[in-house]
Amino acid sequence: MSPEEYVGYENLIGFIQDRAIHRLDGDIIEIGAYMGGGTVKLARFASSFHKKVFAIDTFDPAADGTVGRGGVTAGQVYQAFLEGPSMFEVYRETTRGCDNIVTIRKDSRQVSFPKQQRFCFGFIDGCHQKAFVESDFSLVWPRLVPGGALGFHDYKFADWPEVTPAVDGIVSARRDEIAAVEELAGRSGVLTLLLVKR
Ligand SMILES: C[S@@+](CC[C@H](N)C(=O)[O-])C[C@H]1O[C@@H](n2cnc3c(N)ncnc32)[C@H](O)[C@@H]1O
Repeated sequence: MSPEEYVGYENLIGFIQDRAIHRLDGDIIEIGAYMGGGTVKLARFASSFHKKVFAIDTFDPAADGTVGRGGVTAGQVYQAFLEGPSMFEVYRETTRGCDNIVTIRKDSRQVSFPKQQRFCFGFIDGCHQKAFVESDFSLVWPRLVPGGALGFHDYKFADWPEVTPAVDGIVSARRDEIAAVEELAGRSGVLTLLLVKR
């Protein structure tokens, strides 16, 4: 059985379909793939439209020292759910056979793309610190096609309080470039905020 994912990627795919985002030019990008359960869902969907899924993750729980509620770090939470094998081993097994996934095993701040790379949909669920959320936005937004969308997971989630001000700051600074803002409820009521590009 594929490992769980923690978002409810079916809802993201439903959003893409409702807005016919899959008909636009460009690939899909996910920052924060973890065990790959959501990456696989995106990749299976994207393959019907001859799109790739770029999945970015350090695959190193120890690298994320973000402190959440109760003083537990994100890395400790990710490690606890792995129950033995390494994150990358689990990810590789989950995504085996999906030949439209491009895995980038790096800190998202170190990632760059060729000038011609375009995305129709992006999903940000990597490091939940303000500076990282802003940097992840800057990686994807300039490459997002008009009508494409970018989602921020944990937009309102008490465990990662920096996401809300980071995303609110982006929305306020980029208001002129945003056609629509939509909240999407996922697993355990955690909200994703989606920005549709003008
Ligand atoms: C909340 S988990 C992602 C969960 C995944 N979206 C799912 O639902 O299954 C966050 C992931 O972001 C990764 N991460 C944290 N900081 C990162 C960074 N600076 N660059 C790339 N990935 C990072 C972690 O390794 C972890 O796998």
